[in-house]
Amino acid sequence: MTVRAHAKINLGLRVLGRRADGYHDLSTIFHRVDLFDTVRIEPTPDGITMECDRADVPTDDGNLCMRAARMLLAAHPGVGVHIELRKRIPMGAGLGGGSADAAAVLRVLPSLLDLRIAEADLFAMALRLGSDVPFFLRDGSATARGRGELLDHFPFACPWWIVLLDPGIHVSTAWAYANLRLAADPDDPDLRALLRRAADGDTAALRRLLHNDFEEAVMATHPEIRRARDAMRDAGAVGTLMSGSGASVFGLFDSDTAAHACTAAVHPARILSVTAPAFIPESVVPVD
Ligand code: C5P
Repeated sequence: MTVRAHAKINLGLRVLGRRADGYHDLSTIFHRVDLFDTVRIEPTPDGITMECDRADVPTDDGNLCMRAARMLLAAHPGVGVHIELRKRIPMGAGLGGGSADAAAVLRVLPSLLDLRIAEADLFAMALRLGSDVPFFLRDGSATARGRGELLDHFPFACPWWIVLLDPGIHVSTAWAYANLRLAADPDDPDLRALLRRAADGDTAALRRLLHNDFEEAVMATHPEIRRARDAMRDAGAVGTLMSGSGASVFGLFDSDTAAHACTAAVHPARILSVTAPAFIPESVVPVD
């Protein structure tokens, strides 16, 4: 079975504080864009193996897909799978590519192999794999709090064109968290309410929504990310933001013309995707 694993962007991201377990509490909105990896899963008599079309992607337990399959099959000896990953979402881009791939494995394998797994167990496995894996278990956009696992999914017909840019750098999430300067009194608005107002044309709400607490520290070390974001703003974006802990940046545009004028204005090799308004991904619907 072959499925698509779509990338996410963060429509706003606030880091609220450091927790006793070393993680951080955050508030964000995850939203899928028209950029996806393809995950092909084939049952085999035994063992878990993997291949990828990109040489720099690990195909051992360093890959979240392998770990996801191993967790699922731990209680099922004599069942195996081969995973083929076609990688298009860059790593270290703040787009959740590895998490989306792992969630695709968690979503597909139980039905493919006829395994009975409780929803709560699947969710716990997802969270063990990474903080943003649970989001990818379900379709739609979502507000997220806690580590990213306190989710409220909702359908969102995005009114803007979304242009996604790769500044050509990788940022490690752990590094970004370690270098974050936390506010003593963090700003914690209702992001879903801001999104609703922004989508209705409230530009002040859109400005307030599009804040990412990682930008300052990450852009101080990697000024090319700021330049990429500024290039989109100069090309007419109604809003721009770095996604997750970086390094990709996205721009929101009011029209097809403006979005495509932007892709011409910035180096085309750096455009990762252009997502049309109201885009709904096929997600884990089989593609063959
Ligand atoms: O959960 P995940 O493995 O994706 O997180 C990678 C690293 O990012 C963690 O080891 C932690 O340092 C940091 N992190 C955090 N708070 C979160 C999510 C991640 O501090 N909510």
